[in-house]
Amino acid sequence: MHTLSELPTDKSAAYAELAQGLRALLDGERDLVANAANTAALLFWSLRDLNWAGFYLVEPVRGDLLLGPFQGKPACVRIPIGRGVCGTAAARRETVVVTDVHAFPGHIACDSASNSEIVVPVIRNGTLLGVLDLDSPLHARFDDADARGLEALVRILVESLGS
Ligand code: SME
Repeated sequence: MHTLSELPTDKSAAYAELAQGLRALLDGERDLVANAANTAALLFWSLRDLNWAGFYLVEPVRGDLLLGPFQGKPACVRIPIGRGVCGTAAARRETVVVTDVHAFPGHIACDSASNSEIVVPVIRNGTLLGVLDLDSPLHARFDDADARGLEALVRILVESLGS
């Protein structure tokens, strides 16, 4: 059983603790869906002020982002690369932080409670596997410290898949 503990308020300390927890949680398993599912659950139940945490995974036939493991309300199923915050992060292959989703052109609203969002691409050996997406009901919930911390967690997820 994995025990969730209260995280420090300092973001880099919190992400360091999450990194340790995630390594332990993913140890011994290489399956992308299983490990993405536990990553989403760890984040959703550990980080404050989230209403959605999950993955969209690249679907090889059409090349869209397809809804993957997540925690939160039911969400949009397919997102073309280049569309919305998720598709933009996937196309740019870089983290996108949106302080106000209502001001982001092309934002795809899955839950009307969301006001800010961060999307981190998941890339393994140069191949885009998908994106990690977190939504918050707060405005400007995510900043550079979240971007760096979540990128480190995504690296742990990618490493868990093996070479
Ligand atoms: N808002 C995202 C869509 C996914 S949901 O937030 C879960 C976007 O604009 O890509």
